[in-house]
Amino acid sequence: MRKLLLQLDSSRLPSVFDRVVAYDGAADEVMSYGGIAEADVRDLIHGCIFTRGPKDLKHTAVFIGGADMTAGERLLAAAKQAFFGPFTVSVMLDSNGSNTTAVAAVAKMVQAAGGGGDVRGKHVLIVAGTGPVGVRAAGLFAKAGAEVVITSRKADAGERARDLVLKRFGGRVRAITLRDASEAARACEHAALLLNAGPAGVMLVPQQAWANRPGLEVVADVNAVPPLGVDGVDVMDDGVVKHGVRCFGALAIGNLKMKVHKACIARLFERNDLVLDAETIADVARELSAKPQ
Ligand SMILES: NC(=O)c1ccc[n+]([C@@H]2O[C@H](COP(=O)([O-])OP(=O)(O)OC[C@H]3O[C@@H](n4cnc5c(N)ncnc54)[C@H](OP(=O)(O)O)[C@@H]3O)[C@@H](O)[C@H]2O)c1
Repeated sequence: MRKLLLQLDSSRLPSVFDRVVAYDGAADEVMSYGGIAEADVRDLIHGCIFTRGPKDLKHTAVFIGGADMTAGERLLAAAKQAFFGPFTVSVMLDSNGSNTTAVAAVAKMVQAAGGGGDVRGKHVLIVAGTGPVGVRAAGLFAKAGAEVVITSRKADAGERARDLVLKRFGGRVRAITLRDASEAARACEHAALLLNAGPAGVMLVPQQAWANRPGLEVVADVNAVPPLGVDGVDVMDDGVVKHGVRCFGALAIGNLKMKVHKACIARLFERNDLVLDAETIADVARELSAKPQ
């Protein structure tokens, strides 16, 4: 039976990136819908669950994407609400690649930090942490027991993102203002782990802010477009130690992100009741890294 993926995207144009990865992951056919709002979801989900018998429903799955993470969360909630009894299909949420990218970055950083993967009580700074990737990374770190600080150029945007993280993940999260790269050194002061989650092509952390900084163990950047987000960290850096700090660049993180994303698509078709969101996507990443390559 053909594996059908229903792509529900909150943005006007459904993401081509997500569609390509869906085909590379396992889908035989991707049915893409853009500009999806909550009110649209129930009937689209009914189209999935009423067409194939319960034992064949694992051959249909749903992928939720789009630029807006909060909108994606609402679509996921609406999809789950439309399921009943055995009439469910597996669903994955990855608005703007946020979950898979954050999972990949956090997995590499946690593994590289001292403490054998235990980040409880460690100070984690997420620079420009108010976007989809930053919010998800902050949530994963907070859930793991870290003391998380997210930065924003605007105090109110920082507080809003902090509230989103706390509501969804709990833990300990603060927001601080970082207007531009000139303020980065002050923001880095107590950080043990630093992740730049800022937009493409914006350098937010100059080298003097992080190099040889006492207590700083790991620095990572998800911006692959020059100028890179953390000056001195190259896109291919994959755990190399520079100036006393272990470094991860955007392509090293991106390679793991792609593996995780494809593996998640394949998992969707193994059963009909899987919900892949930040924590469950992190479980998939852990299983992948435990397997011999
Ligand atoms: N490596 C990979 O595999 C991969 C995959 C997906 C995405 N990415 C990258 O991950 C990064 C984060 O993605 P995203 O969608 O979460 O980010 P985003 O929403 O585009 O940006 C994150 C935050 O950056 C701040 N910002 C925006 N413009 C800025 C500017 N000119 N100067 C300083 N700060 C600015 C904004 O925060 P405030 O307004 O609150 O300051 C925004 O909320 C991007 O660089 C993206 O390209 C990488």
